[in-house]
Amino acid sequence: MPDLHIDAARLQSELDHLATFTHAEPSPLGTAVTRVVFTPDDLAARAWLKRLATEAGLSIREDAIGNTFFRLEGTDPALAPVATGSHIDAIPHAGMYDGTVGVLGGLAALRAIAASGHRPRRSIETILLTSEEPTRFGIGCLGSRVLSGVLPPEQADALLDASDLPLHQVRTAAGFHGPLETVRIAPHHYYSFLELHIEQGALLERHAEQIGIVTSIAAPAGYRFVIEGFGGHAGALLMPDRHDALCAAAELVLSIERHALATGSIDTVATVGTCDVHPGAVNSVPSRVALQLDIRDTDPARRESVMHGIRADIASLQDRRRVEITESLVNADEPATCAPDIVSLLTDICSEHAIPARKMVSRAYHDTLFMARIAPVAMIFIPCRAGVSHKPDEFATTADIARGTLVLAEALARLAA
Ligand code: GLV
Ligand code: MN
Ligand code: MN
Repeated sequence: MPDLHIDAARLQSELDHLATFTHAEPSPLGTAVTRVVFTPDDLAARAWLKRLATEAGLSIREDAIGNTFFRLEGTDPALAPVATGSHIDAIPHAGMYDGTVGVLGGLAALRAIAASGHRPRRSIETILLTSEEPTRFGIGCLGSRVLSGVLPPEQADALLDASDLPLHQVRTAAGFHGPLETVRIAPHHYYSFLELHIEQGALLERHAEQIGIVTSIAAPAGYRFVIEGFGGHAGALLMPDRHDALCAAAELVLSIERHALATGSIDTVATVGTCDVHPGAVNSVPSRVALQLDIRDTDPARRESVMHGIRADIASLQDRRRVEITESLVNADEPATCAPDIVSLLTDICSEHAIPARKMVSRAYHDTLFMARIAPVAMIFIPCRAGVSHKPDEFATTADIARGTLVLAEALARLAA
């Protein structure tokens, strides 16, 4: 195998530059980034990344949902390519490393392989996957869901953002035309898929380990609840006559927490992260509330049992508080298992370089969850300070980023050899 060198300073400065494509309020905690899919910041960041890839001599393909494929051609282009990738979108007021490390690290890995002078047999692609974050269209991993065939094109195109604009219109305005049917990639098209990502947890840091080798990804699900009550004037509507939708929502949120805790498993997590109150005035009794629930577990059956418990509470809550609660499913995904042979390849690479590594479960979801439907997959985690993520104080050291990128580059080179 050729010796691969990652230019750590260049990679860090590219990450710093990518973080400037944002309009987030500056934060005293660190570099705040908000980059929502198909906004001017996202499109400008994509244009800059395409320039980087062109300078590196990579070919570029974009699909109708904006997934962007940067390709280093192998000596045998007929063979199934090896791929890596991640996302560049960032939730509101997030940090600068989530996803971006996997995209810029992927480009740096391709540059390192190209610079080694050894052309790989298989082509290698770094993929920028569209909208891993659910911020705009309410569902995560939009690009990889459609690419892997998990989300049907017509359902994807009909997704609405907060301004009721359908994805079809938004992506077309952003320059991504054509039917979404063309986005899907057949199983076995890729020989393998790897994703480099910050851990978003504190296990590596706590155990002074430098690389996490992911063995499986927990199963996420999303639900929306709408609670319809009866509101009115905050002074005139007497307490016995109210059917306050927000009071009912508060009970529902606590019921969700109770049922998640009651599984007794550390692997069950449930979060209500948004709450829209109508009409949202201090002197008006809430008449309608919309909540979004994010619930995950390594065991999807246990996740479903939590939902059963919540639904039983909803039935009594509706009677008691005289409100109507409707539930709608956004997504209920299966967990993914990483390919044992890629996990052992990563283990070998770490031990050859004397890098302390640990096998671990990914509790966050990633595009790899969906790439696993069409290819053997694995993930490489690097430590992030105190496990902080989705916040401006998200931080990873240049050395850890470069080390993760080197492991990625070696794995890609060996898989493509
Ligand atoms: C990804 O951002 C997740 O929420 O796990
Ligand atoms: Mn994220
Ligand atoms: Mn991410």
